[in-house]
Amino acid sequence: MELISGPIKLRPFRESDAPVMASLANNPKIGRNLRDGFPYPYTLEHARQYLSLFMRYNTYFAIEYQGEYAGNISLTPLENVYRKTAEIGYLLGEPFWNKGIMTTAVNLITEFGFKECGFARIHTGVYEYNPASQKVLEKCGYTREAVFRKAIFKENQLWDEVRYAKINPEFEK
Ligand SMILES: CC(C)(COP(=O)(O)OP(=O)(O)OC[C@H]1O[C@@H](n2cnc3c(N)ncnc32)[C@H](O)[C@@H]1OP(=O)(O)O)[C@@H](O)C(=O)NCCC(=O)NCCS
Repeated sequence: MELISGPIKLRPFRESDAPVMASLANNPKIGRNLRDGFPYPYTLEHARQYLSLFMRYNTYFAIEYQGEYAGNISLTPLENVYRKTAEIGYLLGEPFWNKGIMTTAVNLITEFGFKECGFARIHTGVYEYNPASQKVLEKCGYTREAVFRKAIFKENQLWDEVRYAKINPEFEK
């Protein structure tokens, strides 16, 4: 499945994305906004391992900008009573920041998650020091639902987590 809006395309991952994925992901400014485990240095072998995992899921997409691989975006379904909820996650290589790319990508995958996958709710948590990601979610109509105070332990320090969610209009009542 491909999701397209102007110069931005979400498409399935390919093994050939590995070198450019490794070079863009090898940046500490990316991992500091994500959960621990995102490697630094980020090697070609890391990219190959992630790709072999991502290629198993039809809710994980590569982001292309003007035909070039630029980043990743995914919906991860939750389980049990939360199974109508998905967690959204995303990252973009630094040369592509501040061009509106992620705002378009989040809009595309949110519509896909609601219309094609039938999720009732898509949510995520953003660290307090990441205003760009908070802005993206706000521009895409996500609601700032809560601040989980001191929920994040990152770089040896406690931080607040800002929780955002969007509800599928079909399930609003
Ligand atoms: C966060 C991230 C996804 C944003 O993607 P992007 O394509 O640059 O986002 P957009 O260009 O669509 O929108 C960014 C908005 O944040 C604003 N912004 C950027 N840096 C900012 C800052 N330091 N303070 C306040 N606003 C900021 C931009 O001005 C823009 O808003 P505008 O359209 O009103 O001008 C990207 O920077 C990234 O991948 N970062 C590393 C990984 C990450 O943080 N992932 C998300 C984890 S929750």
